[in-house]
Amino acid sequence: MDISVIGTGHVGLVTAACLAHIGHRVIGHDSDMAKMDSLLSGKIPIYEPYLEEIVHENQEAGRLSFTKSFERAVHESSVIFICVGTPPKENGEADLSAVELVSRRIAEIAEDYKVVVEKSTVPVETGMWIAKTISVYGKGQGFDVVSNPEFLREGTAVFDFLHPDRIVVGLLEKGGEGERAMKEVYAPIVDGSFRCPVHPEGCPSREIPFLVTDIRSAELIKHASNSFLAMKISFINAIADVCDRVGADIREVAEGIGLDHRIGSHFLRAGIGFGGFCFPKDLQAFIRISEKLGKRLRILEEVERINAERIDIAMEKIKGMLWILNGKRIGLLGLAFKPNTDDVRFSPALSLAKRLISEGAKVTGYDPKAAFNAKVEMEGFISSKCIRKDSFEIAESPYEAADGSDILVLATEWDEFLKLSWERIKGLMRRPAVFDGRNFLDGEMLRGLGFEYVGMGVR
Ligand code: UGA
Repeated sequence: MDISVIGTGHVGLVTAACLAHIGHRVIGHDSDMAKMDSLLSGKIPIYEPYLEEIVHENQEAGRLSFTKSFERAVHESSVIFICVGTPPKENGEADLSAVELVSRRIAEIAEDYKVVVEKSTVPVETGMWIAKTISVYGKGQGFDVVSNPEFLREGTAVFDFLHPDRIVVGLLEKGGEGERAMKEVYAPIVDGSFRCPVHPEGCPSREIPFLVTDIRSAELIKHASNSFLAMKISFINAIADVCDRVGADIREVAEGIGLDHRIGSHFLRAGIGFGGFCFPKDLQAFIRISEKLGKRLRILEEVERINAERIDIAMEKIKGMLWILNGKRIGLLGLAFKPNTDDVRFSPALSLAKRLISEGAKVTGYDPKAAFNAKVEMEGFISSKCIRKDSFEIAESPYEAADGSDILVLATEWDEFLKLSWERIKGLMRRPAVFDGRNFLDGEMLRGLGFEYVGMGVR
């Protein structure tokens, strides 16, 4: 099929590359010309496992191309995926101006029937507005609007696209051309007839549900899924605080809860909370749209409150170990909002770093992938708050972060932190103390080596 993808951010670029990889001809377009220049010259602006190789492979095979021309992207495709950003406004609502602009331009440019796919994460009823916009500004060329929410995790987005738990397609009218086109788009994934970059020997076989719903239900599935996952995290974090009060261990509690298959073991890792550009903003947007519709989702307000409190609790624990923060040197392991990504947007690690330097500590951060993005964000914060410039520095290795520090704080659970030589680290630190914000390290082993070890709800 001939597909275009408008918006080549994280979701758009992965979608374009994977759709080309399963056999479609795909054109990617973005209004950010610097991003286009970089993609046209073969540079991938984000880090995502397998992405670079499938972009290059499919560019070479002629299935994937990029264009600066919005018109070309529209004219040369029958299915158009809208993957533009929906950033939060000041009040937490999703800013849909990019979605509206793209819909209007498609309406003005398209000369024949198109299937317009809403892939950006949007509040319920956006699909209805897209359809209204296209029919008002269009020339009667005929179109279908489809909601096709994405469930891609950063760091495993290519894997998730090619091995989804489900494909959700929401339609204004079931059984028509839009539904047929979407079945054709995803057929290679449903029947497993693509060459998998993750499993060169062949993917483990499993059935992929293709769920056809009405358009509003599909939009709600996206917001409700992210909210439910965020709720699981806040739930386990609240229980972790109870564990702290009685000397129980949240890892054992989570294991015991998760073995009930009705609950499941995923998203029950307690720590300094969730971040990233999805959960915090989607939760806010869902709270706002529901409020607007006359239904206050207090349960999600509490999920947000518990998450915001994680950094206060981490600060209390660090102060409980160091007493005074002013003048202390802190090594910070992990800066990305989670492992296997270079994304630092709404990263709990950086929220913690900002609080620590605001109280006079000097933080030296290390991250295998996110150091550059973290540096940019922290420099912006430092200059806006008139904090000493040398309050935050980047280390080239975990050992450099530990060197001369009074405490080592683990904020993001990168696998490489499991392989550190703690004897060496002990020798480098001013005093051997570890605050494990993700309950990731072996506390017993560290205590055995003479470290003071504190986690979030662990013994
Ligand atoms: C999330 C969802 O998992 C995806 O399904 C969804 O498509 C995506 O948002 C989106 O809306 O685009 P992502 O933000 O990449 O994906 O990251 P997650 O792996 O879900 O983690 C989110 C945050 O929760 C991270 O900060 C992580 O450290 C934290 N987390 C996760 C916990 O604190 N505990 C857990 O048990 C799991």
